[in-house]
Order: sequence, then structure tokens, then C-alpha cells
Amino acid sequence: PVLVVDFGAQYAQLIARRVREAKVYSEIVPHTMPAAEMLAKKPAAVILSGGPSSVYEPGAPQVDAGLFDSDVPVFGICYGFQAMAQVLGGTVSHTGLREYGRTELTASPEASALFGGLPGEQPVWMSHGDSVTAAPAGFTVTASTSGAPVAAFEDRATRRAGVQFHPEVAHTPHGQAVLERFLYEVAGLAPDWTSDNIIDEQVAAIRTKVGGARVICGLSGGVDSAVAAALVHKAVGDQLTCVFVDHGLLRAGEAEQVEKDYVAATGINLKVVDAADRFLGALAGVTDPETKRKIIGREFIRVFEQAARELESESHVEFLVQGTLYPDVVESGGGTGTANIKSHHNVGGLPDDLAFTLVEPLRTLFKDEVRAVGSQLGLPDAIVWRHPFPGPGLAIRIIGEVTRERLDLLRQADLIAREELTASGLDRDVWQFPVVLLADVRSVGVQGDGRTYGHPVVLRPVSSDDAMTADWSRLPHDLIAKISNRITNEVPGVNRVVLDVTSKPPGTIEWE
Ligand code: XMP
Repeated sequence: PVLVVDFGAQYAQLIARRVREAKVYSEIVPHTMPAAEMLAKKPAAVILSGGPSSVYEPGAPQVDAGLFDSDVPVFGICYGFQAMAQVLGGTVSHTGLREYGRTELTASPEASALFGGLPGEQPVWMSHGDSVTAAPAGFTVTASTSGAPVAAFEDRATRRAGVQFHPEVAHTPHGQAVLERFLYEVAGLAPDWTSDNIIDEQVAAIRTKVGGARVICGLSGGVDSAVAAALVHKAVGDQLTCVFVDHGLLRAGEAEQVEKDYVAATGINLKVVDAADRFLGALAGVTDPETKRKIIGREFIRVFEQAARELESESHVEFLVQGTLYPDVVESGGGTGTANIKSHHNVGGLPDDLAFTLVEPLRTLFKDEVRAVGSQLGLPDAIVWRHPFPGPGLAIRIIGEVTRERLDLLRQADLIAREELTASGLDRDVWQFPVVLLADVRSVGVQGDGRTYGHPVVLRPVSSDDAMTADWSRLPHDLIAKISNRITNEVPGVNRVVLDVTSKPPGTIEWE
């Protein structure tokens, strides 16, 4: 792998993704990892990321000089660039010339592997207080800005280079090209990490791990569990049985997509448990959001456990598939949100005599890579490109008690919103588009000759990268108007549609 050394800023994940977009496999490691341990991973290259510190603050994270005793290619970015300069004998100074944001860079494309073929003048994104004022011996300075005399350096003989700016952010238009030039031209790597190769590698790894044992997987209808199961099925075929708990809280058509389209595309053994009555019974009279979540989580585990016991009684089941993604792995223990979000599907609540060994074939992948793998495996677009959907489903999009009639109303309204969004071609511009029924609120309306006293529906389209923060999507007014029109005309009992224009924070994406 290419190792991305995390110096504690938010940039390491982004860099890791950009490297992968260049079709080179990357992994994130903490800056506290000793060089010997990094080198033991046989890295194809090491990238030192940006970080919040100043290199000469006491206790500032250091680059282990041992890294440079090896001949591994190294690329330093921002803080990593300065730390690298310092450890190799260059000079880093507090010049008083700080640069934040868009900055004009002057590079020498003719004399540079990093900038070859790129414009000599280009905008870049900067964020630094200190500056490198002298490059280490053997390095050529290949770019500068008004505030950074040494904005990039490289030494092709030792395959090392660095840049003061952030090539990984979208505000640096040629950043991806610079990063790719490091990977291909300086480090000499080949762009061969593709969906096909990921599939081959994972299939081989699953076969080695699972051998001839039986495996189960809980399908939620979402992309992660669907792709994880499809990979395991490709590896071990009918040793895998999937369990789909239909809790009756899914959107229109979703259960059918899992039961028919997904099975048709994969040939997977699927055990469907229709548990709608049970979930609705348990939710009767409940209005508190966290109580709803607890009940659904508890019932889910009970139903799943029952299904697992039935399979176990046929023959022993050794493994359980989970759709854990790379950001969860990187952040585990870190973001409190992660643990919460996953808690509903985390079947860690199973009793001890049903202890499974986990198979997590997506542990190294980001969401977009999971989607690419899913498409490559032939899964339907409706599943591969599905927006994230909360485990408790529509139950937390009905403000008030969850009943069958209310679910029906919400399903109709939600389907209209989804149909119109898809028709407008904007599906992939929106992260999620919750439609919320304010079942305990009524407002007066007029329809035909009569006065109505119905329920409002809230449209909550949001844009986001990771659901941690979000902004309301500026969907075209014509689209909103069409959705509003159709909902009030077609969904009985709904006489008003409102648009949620709150970012996160302060609002969450869901209403409950
Ligand atoms: P919020 O509403 O906290 O949502 O901004 C962030 C993301 O998490 C999803 N979400 C959940 N997912 N179980 C889940 O599996 C839950 O209880 C749950 N609550 C929120 C939400 O849809 C969004 O993607």
C-alpha cells in the first residue's frame, strides 16, 4: 500500500481517497507508528499529511527519521512537507508570511517531475503559518508563491518530493494531477488498483478465511450489506445464507428490491422474515424517538437471533458478514456518531452461544469504492446508488405514533419525492432526501370547495459528504413545486408540504 501518515488534521482520509482515485491502494497510519513498523508493511510510498501543529512547537509530531534510511518514496504535504524538510536538514522558519486559502503558485513544469505538463501559474489552496526557507541538500525547488519561497521541492534520485499547498482539496484544481505525478512519475507506481482487482483480492481472502464453513449475513436493504454479501457469495457460494428482516418500516418497493432484484442479480440464498406485525405491535403508542430506536433495535436482534438459530439447527454457522467500511475502522473509538449510527445493525447484542466470527470484506473500502464494486458485481443501480437510510426506517420519519395508515401515507409521499428527484436527474447530487410526516400536527387547507384539516409533510433534502455535517440542498424550485403539487393531490390527508432549510448543525438530518 501507499501509507498516508496522519498528523492529526482532517486531511488524511481525503488524501487516502485521492490516492485511491488514482487507482493506487492506500491506507492511513497514525504518526506515532515507528518507521520500522511502517516499513514492515512494505509500503509502495509514504505520504506525510498536513497537520495543525507548528514543527517547532514543543511536542509537535515528528517524522521518524528512520523512514529516510530506507529507499521508500516519500511525499510531504503541508505540515508533512515542513516536517520532512526539517528532518532532512532543510530550514523551516517563522517568516511572518502566513497564507490561508487561494494562492497563486509559480511552478517550473520543464524542470519538474511533479509539475511536468501542468500550467506554470496555477491557483492552489494554502493553510500555513511557518514556511520552508531552504530545501534539504539534493532537493530542487520547483515552485514558489509570494509567501512561500519554497512551495515545492523534489529529488528524483531518491524519489522524494513535497508541496506546501494542499493537492487533495478541490480548491487546488490541478491537485489531483500533482498527486498522480508523484505516484506515477516520482514513485514509479502503476494505476492498477481497480474494482476488478479489489474483487479478486477480497474473494481470495474470504475463501482463505471461511474455508468450507457456513456464513450468515443480515441484509438491511442498504448498499453496504448488499455488496458485502455479494462478495462473500462470489467467494463461497451457497455456504452463505442471507437473512432479511422486513420490519415493515421500509420505503415503497424496497423489500421487493431485496427479495426479487437482488436475489435475481446474485443468486443468493435468502431467508425473508416478515416481522412487520411484530415491530408495529411493539411500537404501538410510542412517540419518543429514542424509545422507538431502542424497541426497533431490540426486536431486530430478537428476530435475527431466531432466524440464526433456525439456520444453526440445520448445521453449524461459523461466520457473520458485516458491512463495516474503512472510515468506521479509521474512526473507531473516535467519532461518537459512528458507534451510534451503527448500533442498530450491530448484532453484537447476540447471546454468547451464538458467537460468530466476523467477516468484513469492506473494511478497507470507502463508500464510493463499495458502490463501484457493487456495480462491477452486477447489482441493480437501485441498490448500489441507494441513499443512506436509517436502520429504524420510516418509524423515525413519522413524528408521533407509528401506525400502518401513517406508514402508508408517508410511503406514498416519499415515493413521489423519490420519483421526481430521479426524473430530474439529481439523485446523485443529494446525499439523502428524508420525507417526514408530521402526524401529530394539523393545519387548515382548502381543496375543491371544502375546507381540509390535514397533516403537513416536510421535505428534507440534504447535501453531505459523511452525514456528520450537512446543508439543505438547493433543489430547483420547479422540482420542489412539482413534488408539493403531487403530494397534496395524491396523498389523502396531506394538505401542506414544507421545505426544511436547516443545516446540520444545528439541525440533524433526520427529524427524530
Ligand atoms: P442525523 O439525523 O443524526 O443522521 O443527522 C445522520 C445519519 O445517520 C442516519 N441515522 C441513523 N442510522 N440508525 C441508523 O442506522 C439510526 O438510528 C439513525 N439515526 C440517524 C441518518 O439517516 C443519517 O444518514
